[in-house]
Amino acid sequence: MAIVEIIGAPMSSPSTDQLIDALRPVQDPELHRSIVDLGMVRDVVIDKKGVVGLTVVLTIAGCPLRAEIQNRVNSALRALDGVTDVALNFGVMNDDERAAVRQMLNGDPASTAGSQPAQGHASGRTISFAQPGSKTRPILIASGKGGVGKSSVTTNLAVALAAQGYKVGIVDADIYGYSIPRMLGTDRDPVVIDNMLLPPEAWGVRCISIGYFVPEGQAVVWRGPMLHKALEQFLTDVFWDEPDFLLIDMPPGTGDIALSLSQYLPRAEVLVVTTPQLAAQKVAQLSAAMATKVNLPVRGIIENMSWFTGDDGVRYELFGSGGGQNLADELNLPLLAQIPLMSALREGGDDGRPIAAVAPDSEIGKIFHSLAKKIAEEMKPKKIFSAALKVN
Ligand SMILES: Nc1ncnc2c1ncn2[C@@H]1O[C@H](COP(=O)(O)OP(=O)(O)OP(=O)(O)O)[C@@H](O)[C@H]1O
Ligand SMILES: [Mg+2]
Repeated sequence: MAIVEIIGAPMSSPSTDQLIDALRPVQDPELHRSIVDLGMVRDVVIDKKGVVGLTVVLTIAGCPLRAEIQNRVNSALRALDGVTDVALNFGVMNDDERAAVRQMLNGDPASTAGSQPAQGHASGRTISFAQPGSKTRPILIASGKGGVGKSSVTTNLAVALAAQGYKVGIVDADIYGYSIPRMLGTDRDPVVIDNMLLPPEAWGVRCISIGYFVPEGQAVVWRGPMLHKALEQFLTDVFWDEPDFLLIDMPPGTGDIALSLSQYLPRAEVLVVTTPQLAAQKVAQLSAAMATKVNLPVRGIIENMSWFTGDDGVRYELFGSGGGQNLADELNLPLLAQIPLMSALREGGDDGRPIAAVAPDSEIGKIFHSLAKKIAEEMKPKKIFSAALKVN
């Protein structure tokens, strides 16, 4: 018997504690927290042959990232001397366990920070981005006119910031004309844990959009209060996990959504996108005026579709020139970037492969990366102590 043990057991079999320690750095791919700290690891044993048996309880059945978790657990354990194989079982958390995870990550969903909701309103929930101590810099990407490139700028700026090491989220606030899920290439719907939405992530950027909740091809037909409610949920019920930057892709125009957001995100700043065209510049002026009206500072102007470089190497200014600079001069703001027209940018948007992510060294990729650098330098995420804002 003793001989079998000696033959069967590897020289130095790790203890259960050592196995658990090896699993501590393994993060849940969506929650970005240790699977050990989240209480997902159970029943760890090692047999005489060095085979580790364990159960990982997933937050939800059919977790889309199960295979990824399996890989991560396997690699962490197999890296230990004395581990020859891993026998991993999956289980699923019960409601109480999920509630405990939610509590750990995001506080109590029912919490109203000690305040009563205003009369006639349902929630009274707290928006973390408006809390004292929130380091997140919310940035609204706006323009008066449609189709000037707000969503393309939002997506590429977000992935460029993420590539530079910042934690970034996007709120697709264009409820009727949502486009971020496609542009960012997030191919999964959000997972829900105990009423907390985990935003899908691609290229290091988390995103929430109404596009995840409406069947493909179906239009969103909502009145103002519904829009308000959806935005509120995007800000309160999503596990954003304190990003450095929260970019908000605005719908065209200066309507309801801008007003709601200015109330929800009083510390937000605005980037105005325009094209070189005089007409676009005039309309962009309106969105800057709107921002001023609701007390949100405009940080700068981004000119998109500035020129097109033909095969002959000549720059053609298809939409005229000077719109961005004129607007910047009029408003006494910096022109932060000029982005040329390039079919690769559109294609990247259509395929969910943002050019700033897949071709950072291309002409346009470089422009987005230097824009991101500028934004990060000027708007360094920092703790700001302001009055808490209650949504009601
Ligand atoms: N610099 C560019 N080069 C080539 N195509 C571009 C460029 N900027 C934007 N586009 C394309 O123009 C179209 C409109 O851009 P986008 O959706 O980003 O604009 P938007 O301002 O968000 O529009 P909307 O007001 O409808 O939300 C998209 O098909 C996009 O791929
Ligand atoms: Mg858009």
